[in-house]
Amino acid sequence: MNLLSAKNLSHTFEYELFCDVSLSLGTKESIAIIGMSGSGKSTLLHLLSTLLTPQKGSIALFGQDTSSMSKKELSLIKRNKLGIVFQSHYLFKGFSAYENLEVAEILSQKTIEPTLVKNLAIEQCMHQKVTELSGGQQQRVSIARVLTKKPSIIFADEPTGNLDNQTATEVMKLFFDYCEQNSAGMILVTHDNDLAHMCKRVYKLENRELKQIK
Ligand SMILES: Nc1ncnc2c1ncn2[C@@H]1O[C@H](COP(=O)(O)OP(=O)(O)OP(=O)(O)O)[C@@H](O)[C@H]1O
Ligand SMILES: [Mg+2]
Repeated sequence: MNLLSAKNLSHTFEYELFCDVSLSLGTKESIAIIGMSGSGKSTLLHLLSTLLTPQKGSIALFGQDTSSMSKKELSLIKRNKLGIVFQSHYLFKGFSAYENLEVAEILSQKTIEPTLVKNLAIEQCMHQKVTELSGGQQQRVSIARVLTKKPSIIFADEPTGNLDNQTATEVMKLFFDYCEQNSAGMILVTHDNDLAHMCKRVYKLENRELKQIK
């Protein structure tokens, strides 16, 4: 069974961003989406992660069409099975890094894994306020927060945009290991070609089309 299967998605804001986009994601698979700024990558990710409702086309999650799900079903899936790492990370600003992870623990009723914190190299900043962290540290805390939920699908929008090459590669490896160990899948949006090609398949959003290039 596919984790996610999207068929013939089209989306228009001021103008048509893309049309007839189809995509599917299986367990232990990773997909990268690249494309110019403004081509609609984040919008596509928002559709796939059910933050936006499709104007045209359909999305099935875990074999069930999202249009047939009740609001409650959809919000439970969103809370328990989807992990979304946003382009601008939304951490709770008045809280410490640790308190941000605690929120994820409480909402998902899972425990923070010390190895996750260690692998993301954020042990030192756990008790600092979010506003005192560097952009890259905040990015890694938001990744830890998402993985604490143990999602089945990770949607990551430029999750390594604030990181140096070495740290970015390590974070990518962490995502891949996570998917392998938890039979999860990942859809990654990035501007970085090298990181994109670490994924099993690569697509490019261009001229309103999603083309597979790997
Ligand atoms: N909520 C919205 N209302 C109206 N227009 C929007 C909305 N969200 C995005 N857009 C427009 O849709 C286009 C695509 O935006 P999107 O954020 O999907 O691009 P992107 O490929 O992720 O770009 P970037 O690489 O810069 O992050 C842009 O022209 C943007 O202004
Ligand atoms: Mg974007």
